[in-house]
Amino acid sequence: MTARRKCGAERGGREGPPLWAALVAVACSKPWSPSEYSEAALVANVGRGFALGAATAAHQIEGGNDNDWSAWEAGAFSSGRAHVKGGDRSGLACDSWNLWERDVGVLRELGLRHYRMSIEWSRLVPVRGGWDEAAAARYRQMFALMRQSGIAPAVTLHHFTLPRWFAERGGWEHPEAVADFADYVARAADQFGDQVDRWITINEPNVYAVLGYMDGKWPPGVQDARRGARVLATLLRAHAEAYATLKARDTRDADGDGVSSEVGIAHHARVFQPGSINPLDHLVAHASDEFFNQAVPEAIATGRIRISVPGTIDIDETYPGLTGAWDFFGLNSYTRDHMRVDLGTPSLSQTYVPDGKPTTDLGWEIYPEGLLELLRRYARYQRPIVILENGIADRSDLQRADYIRLHLLAITRAAREGIPVTGYYHWSLMDNFEWAEGYSGRFGLYAVDFDDPARRRTARDSASVIRSLAGALAGRAASATDE
Ligand code: FCB
Repeated sequence: MTARRKCGAERGGREGPPLWAALVAVACSKPWSPSEYSEAALVANVGRGFALGAATAAHQIEGGNDNDWSAWEAGAFSSGRAHVKGGDRSGLACDSWNLWERDVGVLRELGLRHYRMSIEWSRLVPVRGGWDEAAAARYRQMFALMRQSGIAPAVTLHHFTLPRWFAERGGWEHPEAVADFADYVARAADQFGDQVDRWITINEPNVYAVLGYMDGKWPPGVQDARRGARVLATLLRAHAEAYATLKARDTRDADGDGVSSEVGIAHHARVFQPGSINPLDHLVAHASDEFFNQAVPEAIATGRIRISVPGTIDIDETYPGLTGAWDFFGLNSYTRDHMRVDLGTPSLSQTYVPDGKPTTDLGWEIYPEGLLELLRRYARYQRPIVILENGIADRSDLQRADYIRLHLLAITRAAREGIPVTGYYHWSLMDNFEWAEGYSGRFGLYAVDFDDPARRRTARDSASVIRSLAGALAGRAASATDE
């Protein structure tokens, strides 16, 4: 990427070339040159209330969790390969359960006013019908310190992990799964509603269904497309119930902005690129797109859950409570998949990254234009779009600064086109336990030393881009107040 070469070039607060220059560059297939844009220019087009933040999830940072994932981490596939790369276990993770004050300190160092985190269902409800008051009190302390520090929490209720009791009796396939989830959501709304206004019900139902039930790479390790599709449909119903519960029970406005609860889902989307002009490559890319990118938002927009994979799955049912059950469109976006037909695999397809494309440490293609494509596409739902995750595994930190700037450039373009992007949470605040990749993927703005019992957090150079963006937004907010 030219971007990488230019990284670190002196920027001196210039506004950068006009956006049409970037358009011309894109049209001529020239790489975008993010360092030509000052941070002020990168946020110039977004709305005044734009939420810039960072994101984490409980199991990935807290340490000491006891849930279906901690059980899974101890196991291996029938081939003998450990479930998690290198046999890593989440273990103490970042020890955020104890070091949460330091984490809030990190947010403050970055000048961030928004933090997406999750509360751990297995901690709060360790047994069916129970509620751990001490765990709840700890989360209340965390939220209180954030509020005192001018940081608004955005709280995810289910970020991949399940309490053991819930998983052991069949997880999302149990007939009472949706009701049990709604009970937990109700307690969370009652306990934290005065401190939390922004809620994310479920993180990435599509990823959960694919990796847990279709590819079998995550717990519960099932490889059955039909069951995966059913679980996805169940998660959508669970979302609808959670949405209704939060709207009914969280009527307390934590920050006095007139909004007591805004509720959404975190939808993971990827660009599926046919690998060639072969119509079969187009067919598999299209089918993946329909299933992965389209089924979830269409279901929430219309209340009709339609999940189909030709020849295998055909779900078509309505769930009235789902219709319009989102106050914002939460988007997680990272990469693009190139696809070709492969009759030798269960999905009849293969994903790959062509030679020469820039990739991250985990081999994901760096494709910021994809974010713009997704924003344009999802604008049709006429909801404010909040990017709830976007980031890069980059241990050396050579690419992260440009990655952030290029994605902000995509947002700025979208904003210019009138697409209401109202927030960006960078994944992640700090290095953490990256699921099946263990500790091999380093996504942090802050590096965490996992060999150090104190889990020291150290800012990476690229964190300065986020700090400058936060500064530019704060500067704008201050000048608006002066006006
Ligand atoms: C997303 C997950 C998040 C993190 C990033 C890298 O799919 O929601 O927990 O693992 O990927």
